[in-house]
Amino acid sequence: MSATVVATAFGGPEVLAVIDEDVPAPGDGQVVVEFRAVGVNPVEYKQYGGFFGSDPASLPLHLGSEGAGVVVAVGTNAIGPAGPISVGDEVVVYRGEGTYAKRALQPAGAVLPKPAEVGWEQAAGLLLTGATAYDTVATTKVHEGDVVLIHGAAGGVGLLAVQLAKLRGATVIGTARESNHDFVRSIGAVPVAYGAGLLDRVRAAAPHGIDVAIDTVGTDEAVDVSLELVADRSRIVTIAAFGRAATDGITALGGGSPASAELRRRARGELLDLAARGEIRNVVAKTFPLADVAAAHRELQQSHPVGKFILIP
Ligand SMILES: NC(=O)c1ccc[n+]([C@@H]2O[C@H](COP(=O)([O-])OP(=O)(O)OC[C@H]3O[C@@H](n4cnc5c(N)ncnc54)[C@H](OP(=O)(O)O)[C@@H]3O)[C@@H](O)[C@H]2O)c1
Repeated sequence: MSATVVATAFGGPEVLAVIDEDVPAPGDGQVVVEFRAVGVNPVEYKQYGGFFGSDPASLPLHLGSEGAGVVVAVGTNAIGPAGPISVGDEVVVYRGEGTYAKRALQPAGAVLPKPAEVGWEQAAGLLLTGATAYDTVATTKVHEGDVVLIHGAAGGVGLLAVQLAKLRGATVIGTARESNHDFVRSIGAVPVAYGAGLLDRVRAAAPHGIDVAIDTVGTDEAVDVSLELVADRSRIVTIAAFGRAATDGITALGGGSPASAELRRRARGELLDLAARGEIRNVVAKTFPLADVAAAHRELQQSHPVGKFILIP
């Protein structure tokens, strides 16, 4: 049996419940992971909030696609992206299934070795935001000498996009609320406050222009400023403004597109290596016991501290 979080209906965090669930023996290409830490992401409250549909037949919803833990059972052909998986392996899971749990069955293809240098909580929250950030800088072909505008530079995805763009030799301007400006500076970007007057502030911070815009926020302000500043629309991407992308001819990136899915799969090993070498760092904002998942989701939907929320099963 395993403590497992499910959404019993569509709605707000009040629909979340922790239940005891059987964990089946792993079948072909499957393993069971006992999680030490689980990453929390906005997509999870969007799922039971009905953002992606609200078919009652899909209830109860199992939540979570990332985490870090120890393999406690393996099925036949338990081969991960880095090779055979064994009981006792310390692993990072992404893109897993129903990771909001003490123990859960996972596809072997989502299970990678956890570098010893990366702690449980850091590892649990690295790969969803990291792979998304990797997709944004790879798709916009960020390279040496580029000036890159990142909307939401202190967010989970944004802070990794800043660091990955810096590693490619770019100069980065990052939007954030005033109280996060020291943090944005600490990861190597020039901070600019979002809100009225953003366009002028970015122009002042980047007098020679902006080559690439990466929107992790999805507001009209972020899209409008990006369109104003970047002539080449193939170098503007958003991970949140899907409606605007369709009307304005910019690229919306989601794990559902085959190109993004492939890029993100390939990014996982590199992200773990970079984190192990200390070349990127993700930030753990807060940890919550699994039972406090609703409180974590309520807080994540508001203005919250920099970094990832992590559940401890
Ligand atoms: N398409 C995909 O594949 C994909 C993948 C991952 C995430 N996402 C989506 O991307 C979004 C960000 O995810 P996340 O994990 O980075 O979330 P997060 O950690 O909660 O970060 C949210 C960011 O938004 C900023 N922000 C809030 N209000 C703003 C405003 N009015 N103007 C400008 N910035 C504002 C915050 O800045 P301050 O804290 O400085 O105020 C913060 O940096 C979510 O909608 C998520 O669902 C999409």
